[in-house]
Amino acid sequence: MNILFYTPDDKHDIWLPVLRAALPQSTIRLWHEGDNSPADYAIVWKPPAAVLREQHDLKAIFVLGAGVDAMLQLGEALPANVPLIRIDDGGMALQMAQYVSHAVLTYFRWFDVYAKQAQTGEWQQHAPLSSADFGVGIMGLGVLGSRVAKALRALGFPVNAWTRSARSDADLDGVQSYVGEADFSRFLQASRVLVCVLPLTTQTENILNRHTLAQLPRGSYLINIARGAHVVEEDLQELIAEGHIAGATLDVFRQEPLPPTHAFWREPRITITPHISALTLHDEAAVQIAQKIAALENGLAVAGVVDLARGY
Ligand code: GLV
Repeated sequence: MNILFYTPDDKHDIWLPVLRAALPQSTIRLWHEGDNSPADYAIVWKPPAAVLREQHDLKAIFVLGAGVDAMLQLGEALPANVPLIRIDDGGMALQMAQYVSHAVLTYFRWFDVYAKQAQTGEWQQHAPLSSADFGVGIMGLGVLGSRVAKALRALGFPVNAWTRSARSDADLDGVQSYVGEADFSRFLQASRVLVCVLPLTTQTENILNRHTLAQLPRGSYLINIARGAHVVEEDLQELIAEGHIAGATLDVFRQEPLPPTHAFWREPRITITPHISALTLHDEAAVQIAQKIAALENGLAVAGVVDLARGY
């Protein structure tokens, strides 16, 4: 079996050995400029159009991450009728649940305030907040958002989830569901912390803007672990300056790496991390891809196939 591989950086040094170990019967080659030889499968992350444009025999394309927005931007260069398969979970959901739990607890338990006080040796207790007043609203309830919701429920927070269409997940007991455009305002008004885990599509780009963020209760927090383009950055900055948003924890940005001159770096109420809320775990991802290739070769269905019309 011939497999074409591409990542935009020198990460292939890490990926190729683990993929070759997981797929010992296959020939896995690193794409190079001008390589149009046919392949059975492609395993890629953010490929330029040239990687896939001339691939007419692919049985599936595996994306080395959860978000497929960069793939959909390839437009015509994305071979039609070839299943696009993302990593589903692969250790990412737990990492995201840890990241969001840490951020929510930081705000809820005043840890950000205590860290600042410690810098000046200030001993000052703050009254515990009531978790009933600390509803966490999760935008997007796929594999990743569901795991985040579960973790926050276990920590005692009221959890609201906003989704495009109604869901019936039995194991998401206790999560207040809000569906579609009609429920969006009520969802925002009920959420003291807003967590974005949405896929980036034309419908969700810029969804976090002055109009929507202003509907959160005064003193709310934003946690974005999805894509930078969900947020209108100037609007967020203004709402923080006005005190409407008390703080934000941001893992993703319109431009990455976030330029050193970006105003977010100078806003103490914004906590910045370098797109690490969930890193793809190489071994788990390689095993998952190998299992899916085996399933596809046997004519079986696999999880994580992207609905191209929906965009995720
Ligand atoms: C990372 O952002 C991913 O989509 O996997």
